[in-house]
Amino acid sequence: MRLSVIEHPLVAHKLTALRDATTDSPTFRRLADELVTLLAYEATREVRVEPHPVNTPVAPTTGVRLTSPKPIVVPILRAGLGMLDGMVRLLPTAEVGFLGMIRDETTLQATTYANRLPDDLSGRQVYVLDPMLATGGTLVAAVEYLLERGAVDVTAICLLAAPEGIEVVRSAFDEHAHVTVVTAAVDERLDENGYIVPGLGDAGDRLYGVV
Ligand code: URA
Repeated sequence: MRLSVIEHPLVAHKLTALRDATTDSPTFRRLADELVTLLAYEATREVRVEPHPVNTPVAPTTGVRLTSPKPIVVPILRAGLGMLDGMVRLLPTAEVGFLGMIRDETTLQATTYANRLPDDLSGRQVYVLDPMLATGGTLVAAVEYLLERGAVDVTAICLLAAPEGIEVVRSAFDEHAHVTVVTAAVDERLDENGYIVPGLGDAGDRLYGVV
């Protein structure tokens, strides 16, 4: 497993505003969207491309274009939805699948409650969107699910990560060179309720309200 923590002043600036408890939902959604686009720029560094001829107004040349099959973007419901627009802005031709996962707040175990994905992901590059890498349970379950269906590499984009969650993902995919986590920051720890400290609170609630 590879970990990439994106150190950039704009990333840190937007993350600080997201952490602020006084940031309202509309602003939180806009900042999360902008932050994902910055993270996605780094996360797609190894997206597959192929040579593509093009005629400029001056001369023919060879550039590149995304190869087929196109990458697939998978937001984890519900909070991952707040990252989708920011991601597909960079990859407009990507397909989008959905995974609904919920964590039991007592056991902190993740279970799948919804799935809208192709059964066969052979040869696909997959970008998983999950804002908070906390205990790691949800992400491990999601990545296992995608690898079992044939995905060749899986990159998780998380706004924030806890050291405990990173260790869980690392031990699950230690040998797997094609599992990557990209995040804006690694925080101090998890609290007794599985929240990231200092974190930003419940990402789903801050995006969409408490429902
Ligand atoms: N999920 C969240 O939304 N926030 C946390 O801090 C941990 C998990």
